[in-house]
Amino acid sequence: MIKTKKTGRYANIIPMAELNTKEKRLNPFPIYDQLRQSTPVRYDESRSCWDVFRYEDVHRILKDPATFSSKRGMDIRKRENILIMDPPRHTQMRGLVNKAFTPKVVADLAPHITSITNALLDAVLDHGKMDIVSDLAVPLPVIVIAELLGVPTEDRQLFKEWSDILVKGPDENTEEAFNQVVAENAQASEELSAYFARIVEQRRSEPKDDLISLLLAAEIEGQKLNDEEVIAFSILLLAAGNETTTNLIANAVRRLTEDQALQRQLKENPDLIPSFIEEVLRFYPPVQAIGRVATRDVEIGGMQIKAGDQVISWVASANRDEAKFKDPGSFVVDRKPNPHLAFGFGIHFCLGAPLARLEGQIALRTILERLQDIQFVTGSELSYIQSPFVYGVKQYPITFQA
Ligand code: HEM
Repeated sequence: MIKTKKTGRYANIIPMAELNTKEKRLNPFPIYDQLRQSTPVRYDESRSCWDVFRYEDVHRILKDPATFSSKRGMDIRKRENILIMDPPRHTQMRGLVNKAFTPKVVADLAPHITSITNALLDAVLDHGKMDIVSDLAVPLPVIVIAELLGVPTEDRQLFKEWSDILVKGPDENTEEAFNQVVAENAQASEELSAYFARIVEQRRSEPKDDLISLLLAAEIEGQKLNDEEVIAFSILLLAAGNETTTNLIANAVRRLTEDQALQRQLKENPDLIPSFIEEVLRFYPPVQAIGRVATRDVEIGGMQIKAGDQVISWVASANRDEAKFKDPGSFVVDRKPNPHLAFGFGIHFCLGAPLARLEGQIALRTILERLQDIQFVTGSELSYIQSPFVYGVKQYPITFQA
């Protein structure tokens, strides 16, 4: 865990000064476009970190873990998990769960994910209106990951509250805002640990067919994981899978309401849904930026980065880089190829990507099958998720014909 030298704060949880209004937080993309042109690689004094905006540079950073380490600690998020490990430990730990998340294994979950989606829609169908975030996009991924882990889905309100806090950042660059987030985060982490400690204890004495039991049985070079490691892994899976997939689904529905012709096109041709989801990931990526720490002095985009410096790679900007994507500001439903970086790249490439894609595709397919004429409730207040790296809206009310 690296504290920045100058301020003692953790740079990558502080919002960029350029994103200083609600409108810009809801639509940061024009700012990224400007920064990519004016300062593609720049040192931000106020946050004490480098920001990198071009596709080529972001790609280079993500594919070179020896020079750009993940071992920064998720800043204030202290517990060791694979997201913040480097090889060789990263390779060993990731190997334990890789098999549980392959596209083939995940595809078997499709009927069940469809039935959860249908049940969630059944509950609101008669009303002619719903909040896509709280009625579908939040509960669907939480239920799926809770079932995979083997924790009670009835506790999902608790998971939601905890994972909201884990991705939260201060809304302004002040000591007070910062300290408050650190304190809230520490408390949520403690509560989550205590929660999972109980489940781990139960599974030790009575293993089941779930991921926590799988982790408890797993061995690396003849050695089992200790409780702390299993707890850290479980918390990562719960938090990483929730906030992100929720925003993928909500951002996808947002897109449908922003473009009625697109909505009709997808309804008539559902085979376009997988490439539509990829384009949503490029256009509105749920994770905007990925942090690393330089392990040696290195040059990027003509700038001299020093060993120990924090480097923030803006995938949301890379995804709209005109040097990589034709007409990047346009939403092209069947864009091919679409080498977006929404799931990262290289050894830390999102473990849950097959699951997130499947959930996103099923949610959209079911919505388009069952709801007609989906419209955003104009005039509704939108608020953004207060997080330095997660992008999405807290509510998104829609009307429809069933
Ligand atoms: C890693 C995004 C869904 C579990 C990552 C990374 C990104 C990402 C950008 C790379 C971070 C880095 O390089 O430092 C997303 C997005 C999702 C999503 C946009 C939804 C649309 C999920 C789901 C799960 C999951 C559903 C679990 C069930 C993980 C894990 C890692 C990870 C465990 C760490 C992998 C490693 O360090 O080797 N995700 N994720 N994610 N994601 Fe996801």
